[in-house]
Amino acid sequence: NKERTFLMVKPDGVQRGLIGEIVKRFEQKGFQLVGAKLLQLSREQAELHYGEHLGKDFFERLVNFITSGPVFAMVWEGDEVIALSRAMIGKTSALDAAPGTIRSDFAVHTNFNLIHGSDSPESARREIANFFSDQELVSYTKVI
Ligand code: CMP
Repeated sequence: NKERTFLMVKPDGVQRGLIGEIVKRFEQKGFQLVGAKLLQLSREQAELHYGEHLGKDFFERLVNFITSGPVFAMVWEGDEVIALSRAMIGKTSALDAAPGTIRSDFAVHTNFNLIHGSDSPESARREIANFFSDQELVSYTKVI
């Protein structure tokens, strides 16, 4: 079941020089990168992206953090990429992330958890559209 998902290295991951490490893990897994860009989010874009958390006590902190510096936004394609990339990322809470996941291996704090990944096909569609135009996404068949 070929899918697309939206993954984003958050400002902490960019500042700690972890873009390469994170991209490497998804390449090694066999997923295909079909879109990527470094950008700094506007407040509007961040509030739209985190709309489901509107009204929660951590919302303001979250929006301030995600707009505080550049992020690396990506679209990845592959079989079951939505669920599998979430598994590779690990649980939100630093205490719950399993060893071997990105968050467990590189993060200690729930608020600075390095990377975002879409949690469902609906979220993936919405998030991809929030960050990328159709022209910014490529489509190609892997030859090797
Ligand atoms: P993420 O799931 O990528 O998107 C929402 C973010 O809010 C989450 O990562 C955490 O970094 C942050 N956050 C802070 N406190 C909480 C909380 N209590 N529950 C969920 N997310 C939280």
